[in-house]
Amino acid sequence: MPRTDNKSLVLGQTVQLVADPFQSPPEGAILHRQRGGVLLREGIIRQVGEADQLLADNVGIAVTDYGDALILPGFVDCHAHFPQTGIIASWGRRLIDWLHTYTFPEEARFGDPGYAREIAELYLDLCIANGTTTVSAFCTSHPESVDAFFAAAAARNMCVAGGKVLMDRNAPDALLDSPEGGYEQSRALIERWHGNGRLRYAVTPRFALTSSPEQLAAAGTLWREHPDTLLQTHLSEQPEEIRRVRSMFPDSDDYLGIYERHGLVGRGAIMGHAIHLEEREKTSLADTGTGVAHCPTSNTFIGSGLCDVASHVRSGVRVGLGTDVGGGSSFSMLATMRAAYEIGQLRGDVFHPAQLLWLATEGSASVMRLEGRIGRLERGAEGDICVLDPEATPLLAARCSRAESISEILFSLIMLGDDRSVRQVLIMGTKRLCES
Ligand code: GUN
Ligand code: ZN
Repeated sequence: MPRTDNKSLVLGQTVQLVADPFQSPPEGAILHRQRGGVLLREGIIRQVGEADQLLADNVGIAVTDYGDALILPGFVDCHAHFPQTGIIASWGRRLIDWLHTYTFPEEARFGDPGYAREIAELYLDLCIANGTTTVSAFCTSHPESVDAFFAAAAARNMCVAGGKVLMDRNAPDALLDSPEGGYEQSRALIERWHGNGRLRYAVTPRFALTSSPEQLAAAGTLWREHPDTLLQTHLSEQPEEIRRVRSMFPDSDDYLGIYERHGLVGRGAIMGHAIHLEEREKTSLADTGTGVAHCPTSNTFIGSGLCDVASHVRSGVRVGLGTDVGGGSSFSMLATMRAAYEIGQLRGDVFHPAQLLWLATEGSASVMRLEGRIGRLERGAEGDICVLDPEATPLLAARCSRAESISEILFSLIMLGDDRSVRQVLIMGTKRLCES
């Protein structure tokens, strides 16, 4: 018997981004192999190359051949709320009203560990079904919700970030904590989960409207004490929110200034939305390495506005893509890239499919400080892979049959694809979907 060394080979059309398509001609950023392959050993990508060569060099190892399907890095969703799975697609409200009508009553249920577990498992299974292998998720203010999320992610060997939401005002009592209580609970959760396998903790003050200055300061202290955790919050999503925040923090010149004052900006901090910004705020985001999670399906669904992603990128701000489930209307990062394209069009910016794919993989990995490890099909990266079928539906098959380039196939999948296009998902090299 030939030695296999726990190796496996996945064959198909490999699509690698070998340069940042926002910094160089996007077409040239794609390295495409029509008959390519990815060699995996112990969950890590060891080689990406021509199928024939890989087959010849690795006689006897397990091979799965996906034919004309695209082999891509798994998608990275850098902003979502797993407890909002059950209230996705709730009608007729805008942010503050939507939070109070739908979100807070649902989140109040997550003190029940059984319910938290049920939704965490459903949420992560839906992510995988949509080709998403990493998320940075808000839990609720209940530690039980964080335990449920990380336990479900560990059972799937997923690389995820998550954190207990800190909120001590302007919400129902059932969701409120206190500066000291929230700090202590978060600290205990960091000790329990952070760095455990592929799990990362994210210090998670919900936003300035639901945290007192004392709580924001406690969150800043916690992050300073655990600098390799992430920090996630919301910034400048809707005008009404900004007006209220400004009146509650009259000493700050702008919204981001509140977070700056409390030590909540820097590399590894992820600001959800960041739509309505002053020039100073953009400069500060870029200078401090603070990331932005662009959440386009949410921004249209709850009517928040058209985020100027092109200007963020030009200013040097790190940008990733988030579904913002359940303010966002889809689990699919294909739908999220589609919405990013459409918002770009409405602003007069035309994003190339390589740029959209970059935001959904490398961009999100970078705001999560995981670049090089995930979001990349490259030797040494972790083996999180998504296999997309360009013939998954009659319409996709018809459209892709006329495509003249890999960019055109990619764009067709972005515009027309959904979970039906996800043929397989590998997490650390292990297949996670049933194959018929
Ligand atoms: N701002 C504060 N909390 C939330 C939330 O749960 N969803 C969105 N979209 N924005 C928020
Ligand atoms: Zn959000």
